[in-house]
Amino acid sequence: MSDYIVEMKHITKRFPGIVANDDVSIGIKKGEIFALLGENGAGKSTLMSILSGMYEPDEGEVYIRGEKVQISSPNHAAKLNIGMVHQHFKLVPDYTITENIILGIEPMKRFAGIFPYVDIQSANRKIEELSKSFGLEVDPKKRITDLTVSMQQRVEILKVLYREAEILIFDEPTAVLTPQEIEFLLDIIEGLRQGGKTIILITHKLDEIKKVADRCAVLNKGKLIDVLDVKETSTNYMAQLMVGREVSFESAKTPAQMKDEVLKVENLTVKNEDGFEVVKDVSFSIRGGEIFAIAGVADNGQVEIADAIAGLTKVSSGKILLNEQDITDERIRKRTEAGISYIPEDRQSVGLILDFDVATNLALKQYYKEPFSRNGILNKEEFDQFGNRLIEKYDIRSGQGIQTQVRSMSGGNQQKAIIAREIELQSPLMIFVQPTRGVDIGAIENIHKMMIQERDKGKAILLVSLELDEIMDVADTIGVIYNGRLQKVASSESLTKNEVGEYMMGAKHG
Ligand SMILES: Nc1ncnc2c1ncn2[C@@H]1O[C@H](COP(=O)(O)OP(=O)(O)OP(=O)(O)O)[C@@H](O)[C@H]1O
Ligand SMILES: [Mg+2]
Repeated sequence: MSDYIVEMKHITKRFPGIVANDDVSIGIKKGEIFALLGENGAGKSTLMSILSGMYEPDEGEVYIRGEKVQISSPNHAAKLNIGMVHQHFKLVPDYTITENIILGIEPMKRFAGIFPYVDIQSANRKIEELSKSFGLEVDPKKRITDLTVSMQQRVEILKVLYREAEILIFDEPTAVLTPQEIEFLLDIIEGLRQGGKTIILITHKLDEIKKVADRCAVLNKGKLIDVLDVKETSTNYMAQLMVGREVSFESAKTPAQMKDEVLKVENLTVKNEDGFEVVKDVSFSIRGGEIFAIAGVADNGQVEIADAIAGLTKVSSGKILLNEQDITDERIRKRTEAGISYIPEDRQSVGLILDFDVATNLALKQYYKEPFSRNGILNKEEFDQFGNRLIEKYDIRSGQGIQTQVRSMSGGNQQKAIIAREIELQSPLMIFVQPTRGVDIGAIENIHKMMIQERDKGKAILLVSLELDEIMDVADTIGVIYNGRLQKVASSESLTKNEVGEYMMGAKHG
């Protein structure tokens, strides 16, 4: 018997135009937490999709508990006690938690010994037991649509545990979570390991790897670079190995040269669907050449402020002025034309049309205008040229260039595509909501550089982020929100990270 519960030997997987995994060999020991690190598009999700039966490799072999296997489907993987919590969740929104968890393996009973029916009762019971024993409390009868992202993730984890997984794969589980939720999840993962499970963790966050992982494999452009012992490796070295160059964790930034006011928000109040005030009487303004960041714990109204400015949410009272023009009740396209770029929080459902190619997605906000369209006729060449230029400039990596269907792109590269499209609009106001979610550290550095560059060109920038480090690093002015109210607005130099943290928790008032 070998030491390894999982062995992948000489795995190669090709997609049109790209080798996603190139002769990769790794071995994973029973009971360890094994991390996978690599740039956006390096092949992490692909490698794990092979292990979880979503893809078959073109070359190479997989051994589970020393036995050679050909994992032909996710069901087959489940029989081998392998389960994956995906980067983009795969839940049915209108189904309940229980219905989602038992999907495909419904426990059946027979009524009067003849008519088969699904035994929801016993499923509910089993799920409740599972959720208690792993600290993943849920209400099994709730529908997915009514759940927060972190709750949906719990469901995905329970789904895998319900199928009796021993080898659990987590694909960027913390990218969508708040710092508090991340702490919680890392504890859950640690607990699973102590219960004897084997964990594979994909993440871009080096401190998470440092905190929980035993070993870490580094991938670059499909190839395995090295497998590191985490305890004996610094995060700086990991970063360098993965990006292939030195990465600076702080942006170089000259003092802001602020110009005229671009955005003015006056006494803004926004209500949610239940009529509850989620933004309360908020006022602030942003000048050209200024990065204004809203800091806050998740769900304190910051995303609603951004949505209200962009026109995705209705304003219940107050005013929004863009270059002195009242846009409070304008339609979205009017606002875009008046000068707003918007990078939304949810890239898959709001930001992109997944079934369209990259070229179309990049031109999505300009296609009806010259030079993309003349007299109502679309000019394909313009789309292509534009797409190629942006791919180059923003380092968007994919298999088939502008023709790649966006759905097949890696998560981080989808994000880079949205950022490229929105920056290229060259709007006087650019709104970035969680712009570096799921993006690798090299690309984060680039995104911060670009934001500062646009600022220096005189754009007004609104940044909404849950990452306090990101805010402290790039913002000129910080507005701290708590419970829908701006607690404090001040220049970033005049605030320490600790102070911002206190305002965020509502412990301090401006
Ligand atoms: N179904 C597919 N069809 C075509 N190309 C694909 C498909 N899945 C992945 N690819 C390509 O394979 C490469 C590796 O993608 P993968 O999703 O494994 O990257 P990743 O390391 O997980 O990146 P990220 O950190 O951005 O999630 C990418 O260039 C991607 O475009
Ligand atoms: Mg991925």
